[in-house]
Amino acid sequence: MHTTMRGNEHSEFIFAMSTGYNEDLALDMSNLHIHRQYFFSAFLAMEPSDILISLARKCGGGFVSEDVQKFIWTYCINNISDESCYVTYLKVFLKKLIKEVELTGGVVLDEFYERYAHYMASLKEDASGNQDLWTVKCITFLFHDVPSHTGQMQMVVPLRCSLNMLQGDTGCALWPSSLFLSEFILSFPEVFTRKLCFEVGSGIGLIGICLKHAKASQVILSDGDSSTLANLKLNLEMNEIANFDSSLDQSTSTSYLVRCIHLPWESANESELQQFNPDIVLGADVIYDPSCLPHLVRVLSIYLNRRITTNNRLNGTAQACDKEEDCSNGDCSGSNKVNLQVATLKSLLEEMETGPVALIASVIRNIDTFNCFLKLCCQNDLLVKDMTESIRPDNLLPYMKSYNRSDVRLLMLSYMSK
Ligand SMILES: C[S@@+](CC[C@H](N)C(=O)[O-])C[C@H]1O[C@@H](n2cnc3c(N)ncnc32)[C@H](O)[C@@H]1O
Repeated sequence: MHTTMRGNEHSEFIFAMSTGYNEDLALDMSNLHIHRQYFFSAFLAMEPSDILISLARKCGGGFVSEDVQKFIWTYCINNISDESCYVTYLKVFLKKLIKEVELTGGVVLDEFYERYAHYMASLKEDASGNQDLWTVKCITFLFHDVPSHTGQMQMVVPLRCSLNMLQGDTGCALWPSSLFLSEFILSFPEVFTRKLCFEVGSGIGLIGICLKHAKASQVILSDGDSSTLANLKLNLEMNEIANFDSSLDQSTSTSYLVRCIHLPWESANESELQQFNPDIVLGADVIYDPSCLPHLVRVLSIYLNRRITTNNRLNGTAQACDKEEDCSNGDCSGSNKVNLQVATLKSLLEEMETGPVALIASVIRNIDTFNCFLKLCCQNDLLVKDMTESIRPDNLLPYMKSYNRSDVRLLMLSYMSK
């Protein structure tokens, strides 16, 4: 899976899928196309093998047919140009695939047996444990059913990630909240267009790449872990985004679209932070370590307590909350949901006119830690509005079955004017 090949691989795949079919079969073919595209995207994102197998079954109408196997061989496995860091993943997948076909009485392609045997032998030889602990996952955002995305069908983002999290700490893995915030950015780009966006705890950098796509005027990505930051810069390069390496004490310049900053929340001081004036602060899966929370909330409150021009924040929030209650009895119809979404988006945009906001996406893994975050926000005069039920991004990752978007909460934070 050579990262620079990604765009081409997708185009080749789409071209091959869209030629040579007769019109009577259009509907079946379009379903086939979708299933194969889901499989292909899941393969590139290195979804777990069981998920790949279930997607492969769908491609073959319930079983992994010979045609499906040929597709997997030609467009997925045999298309990898640098397979060294995928051997373990492919070995597990091939083993399951072979077992699946054999159990259903199908004929396994010889190529699969040969490649599996080859991986078994090469892994035995490399029993020293010197296998690569990094990999490149490609996240494909699919815009098929999104009316706002006419023209562009998909966006492919290659990301270098750690396989075991010992490399580069937690920030070198892909977390569900960054997938969710990315979907949010791509679903509602108007919120971010021409805005100065600042991300805390940026990790592998997916959100920054989506912000660029949404045409943010400037993107500042930050992390407190140096190895995470180094990996983040590699990811920007891989996605052809120029970045400006900066520490906080260097003078600011608006000529750089994406800047990467070393920002440990504990040591960031107010005057250093204030050289930035973000419209939107973002954070994904940053609420997990209770000892860091006071520092994180301090950083957020420094950014949010700026450029307050009116004192209508409380009113705006209360109105939005009233609307949310319309659906609280469970009989929220489709059109109500759309209305609620439009109202929430409008209230978010209005909120941004009065001062900066923060959008924090989080999976609640420990309710005490989450409540501690809410309490600290309150103590620091930050209003927290849970937008999870009132605004849902489009499902742009329908093939990614390992990502449970309903686990993620979306919070909007703003400064509570007095
Ligand atoms: C769970 S990861 C989430 C990464 C990324 N936002 C995502 O969702 O994929 C948490 C991130 O916060 C960063 N972080 C944790 N504690 C921090 C601190 N005290 N100061 C700055 N960054 C910190 C980590 O380095 C890591 O990149």
